[in-house]
Amino acid sequence: MSRYFGLRVVSAAFIGLAALALVMLPVGGQLTLQGVAAQESGSVVEYTLRTQIGGDPVMAFVGVGGAIDGVVNPELTANVGDTVRLTVINGDPVLHNLVIDEFNVSTGDLVTDEQTVTVEFVASQPGNFFYYCSIPGHRQVGMQGVLRIIGTVAVGDESALQESQTDSGYGSSAGARTTDTMTAAPAAEDAVSIIRNPADVPPPVGDRGPETIRVDLTAVELNGILADGTTYRYMTFDGEVPGPMLRIRVGDSVELHLHNAPGNQLPHSIDLHAVTGPGGGAVYTQTLSGSETLFSFQALQPGLYVYHCATPSIAHHISSGMYGLILVEPIGGLPPVDREFYVMQGEMYTAQPFGMQGHLDFSHEKMLDEDPEYFVFNGAANALTVDPYILHAQVGETVRIYFGVGGPNAISSFHVIGEIFDRVYNLASLTSPPMTNVQTTLVPPGGATMVEFKVDVPGRYLLVDHALSRTERGLVGYLEVEGAENPAIFSGGGLPEQSGH
Ligand code: CU
Ligand code: CU
Repeated sequence: MSRYFGLRVVSAAFIGLAALALVMLPVGGQLTLQGVAAQESGSVVEYTLRTQIGGDPVMAFVGVGGAIDGVVNPELTANVGDTVRLTVINGDPVLHNLVIDEFNVSTGDLVTDEQTVTVEFVASQPGNFFYYCSIPGHRQVGMQGVLRIIGTVAVGDESALQESQTDSGYGSSAGARTTDTMTAAPAAEDAVSIIRNPADVPPPVGDRGPETIRVDLTAVELNGILADGTTYRYMTFDGEVPGPMLRIRVGDSVELHLHNAPGNQLPHSIDLHAVTGPGGGAVYTQTLSGSETLFSFQALQPGLYVYHCATPSIAHHISSGMYGLILVEPIGGLPPVDREFYVMQGEMYTAQPFGMQGHLDFSHEKMLDEDPEYFVFNGAANALTVDPYILHAQVGETVRIYFGVGGPNAISSFHVIGEIFDRVYNLASLTSPPMTNVQTTLVPPGGATMVEFKVDVPGRYLLVDHALSRTERGLVGYLEVEGAENPAIFSGGGLPEQSGH
């Protein structure tokens, strides 16, 4: 339970925000009834805000100078007709912005530390309006405040007033069901393959004693190939999806160094489910671009565990590729097999519909609706259907698949078409006896399984989630088995014999 401490901090921020919304909404309703005359219209009102990370809430705007100095997400006030001059200073080397929808105000991207932008607009209508950061997840964890404009509009212009009452509600973007964006930028020319080869499995630990192991992981944001002619801005551990499979034994001590590559726009972190301790490490590894953090843990319990980024919006980072598996082998190691593979399932939330070419954008709204466009094994649509990413084995061999779900949201009904799992280590428990002779096994987000089966007959076997609609959204992989036919087990394909009348 303690492993989710980091998440609870985030939830607290959410609750705080919800409370803020409850306080502000009734005020928004009353304001327009006050009828404060706009006698002081036309003056210039200046405010300065600075972004802040790591306080309470997790991300915020903090007032600089004057009455709002030091105030978190201060209420900004102006009279109708005033010119509002708003300066935003980036307090960290993290991507932020400030927008006010109703006035078409946007600072554009602030990326570097101390980067400063001033925007100016006329407070043309009364009401309460939200200023917020539109980078996915930032508003949700606290980057939001209220601009309160006092006064009345001129007679005959009540329509503006009506609009302000209906438009300035909290959560309008979060609650609405979104429609697809039907245009996309051209596919990114620098996009690379981000597919982790499923054969990329570290060697067994064998029968050794516990050791101290240093692990270095680097958060890398990059343009990757999501499908033919389609690219996406991925977030990864070490440039591929899933991140590298880590393999240790119970009792090992791990010193984990997390690097956040220079040039990245977002902070990143890591929560490993193999860790006993707050946040699974996320409390020690919130890492800014160009920086490094570290923490140590001892692997107390064997198992196959998911690791993932735990920086808000966590689901955005996970759906963009920040997950992997860590295998903690029991004393003496796992039983040997002939082939081991590493496969993870995730789902992706693009603003544009499945199949559209170009560079697709992330949709925070679809993510909140849990309405993905793509389902992927190892990061890209149909990734494991093309060599070198196809799984290969020989007739007679025993295959083991380390299978995990990064998610962030969808449960997998993992199945291999044409095979029966001889053994399923259900929920990736390596210390319980395996289930035998299983067709399909459930794997929850943030969970894993280990399956083993002997391949008896050559041919192509399909890895799927048996929620089979997902095969039409990119979720299928191949296991190619070569070797001699075995007609006693499987045969057919000839013409039926004519009985002859
Ligand atoms: Cu932000
Ligand atoms: Cu991240």
